[in-house]
Amino acid sequence: MIFAANFKTNHTRKSTELYIKELNEKLGAKKPEDKVYIFPPATALDAYEGDFKIGVQNAYPTINGAYTGEIGVEQLDEFDIKTILIGHSERREHMGESQEKVAEKFSFFQEHDLEIIYCIGEPLYIREKGFEAVMQYLLAQFEGIDINYASLIIAYEPIWAIGTGRSATVEEISTTHRALKKVIGNKPLLYGGSAKPANIKEIINIAGVDGVLVGSASLDADSFSEMILS
Ligand code: PGA
Repeated sequence: MIFAANFKTNHTRKSTELYIKELNEKLGAKKPEDKVYIFPPATALDAYEGDFKIGVQNAYPTINGAYTGEIGVEQLDEFDIKTILIGHSERREHMGESQEKVAEKFSFFQEHDLEIIYCIGEPLYIREKGFEAVMQYLLAQFEGIDINYASLIIAYEPIWAIGTGRSATVEEISTTHRALKKVIGNKPLLYGGSAKPANIKEIINIAGVDGVLVGSASLDADSFSEMILS
């Protein structure tokens, strides 16, 4: 299983350091085959050591250059960052990242050999239209994306379940993952959207779920480690 923590705009450099210290004390008990990822804010990147990978929530598709406010490969290399989240719904929604822009980022970071966790997910009004509409919406988010890329992990995150405390149901996750697996083959497929200690067991036991991308419930090291060790 893969357990990925997306801090979003939470935690500081100092609190991330403490978090990682606390998490490391717990990770000795995790199953060796389980993989842990942490996506702190860019200001908290550092050379942390432990049984996990550190990734970035975002970067600009450039080595360096005149892109005020952004970071590129040169900045990632300084911290040996080899994993990036692309296509998160918050970036699509709040930062206006179009599918074209997302695909451009994907190609760039693929060329630079970064491992990519690529996020897809539908808004509530699409879910309410029924399963066919959901799949059509999700498949459109693969436009311009090389799903055969070897270092690709996909995260299915229904937007209406993100940060709402209300996860998708086992049935919804199961049907959607089964349909997505037919498209993405053997790529790992994570679920994201209000995954937490109270529902982690039922989520990771669903066929076609290879792990979770966790926001709110990952912010506390105890809560996240409880999920990993569940
Ligand atoms: P959540 O966020 O766990 O707070 O719902 C998940 C995500 O956005 O990756």
